[in-house]
Amino acid sequence: MVLQSEQHSSLLTKPNSANKPIGVFDSGVGGLTVVAALRRHLPNENIIYLGDTARVPYGGKSPETVLRYSKEIANLLLEHNAKMIVIACNTASALALSTLKSIYSIPIHGVIEPGAAAAVRATKKGIIGVIGTRATIASKAYQQAIHHLSPKTDVLSYPCPLLVPLVEEGLFDDEITQRVLERYLEPMLSQGIDTLVLGCTHYPLLKKLISKVIGPNVTLVDSAENCALAVQTLLTTKNLAREKSTPGTLHVLLTDTSEDFLHSAANALKISIDRVSIMTLY
Ligand code: DGL
Repeated sequence: MVLQSEQHSSLLTKPNSANKPIGVFDSGVGGLTVVAALRRHLPNENIIYLGDTARVPYGGKSPETVLRYSKEIANLLLEHNAKMIVIACNTASALALSTLKSIYSIPIHGVIEPGAAAAVRATKKGIIGVIGTRATIASKAYQQAIHHLSPKTDVLSYPCPLLVPLVEEGLFDDEITQRVLERYLEPMLSQGIDTLVLGCTHYPLLKKLISKVIGPNVTLVDSAENCALAVQTLLTTKNLAREKSTPGTLHVLLTDTSEDFLHSAANALKISIDRVSIMTLY
């Protein structure tokens, strides 16, 4: 498809209408964790989800590249009439949210601030662990969002690059994944974290195993769940909630075929997909 210029794209931001779909995007299929949370809280909303499966992963890419990809996807979602955009990808939220907000007039929501706010509410000792991709951790976006709310909180951040491929292989509950998690999480556990933020789309699929490794005294904060709650509040306050009470539909757009992971993630998350389209974005 032909790329929009930034000037052209701003012309596409027509007045919002509550019955338009929510646009959600991610580097790939992992952002369906956010869709599943949106479904639980907003069952009547239509959702159009773009997974950039041709260019996943974003987690090891430069900030400039992630920003460029994010602008291309936001333009596309506007062409599909999105009334708001949810950046399900933590890496794109960390690196592109503020620029996208400055370009477009529709509401744009990321996953970092809701996750940070939930972690600040949850911690008792004031020691929070954050795990994510290399790019998310290097951006310090979670650290800044947490310190904005609670300057004295200690934030220990750790990149966990092996977790995304393990999830994409469907090893949600596997001994190898457990060993990798132990290796990544031990340093933070030994420094006394009492709260752990799952700062990546894929990690909620490992919740069971992560809970086993961290034990009962550390609270898990799921960015996807907290993002969905924040979107629900936003739609209500901006009078943007869909008027019809029929169940919402889910249209998944992918930039390359990724059927295996798409279906294993949809099954694990218990969401049904109404339509899948493969398209070229650039
Ligand atoms: N969606 C990415 C995130 O949440 C994980 C996968 C990737 O590296 O692109 O950060």
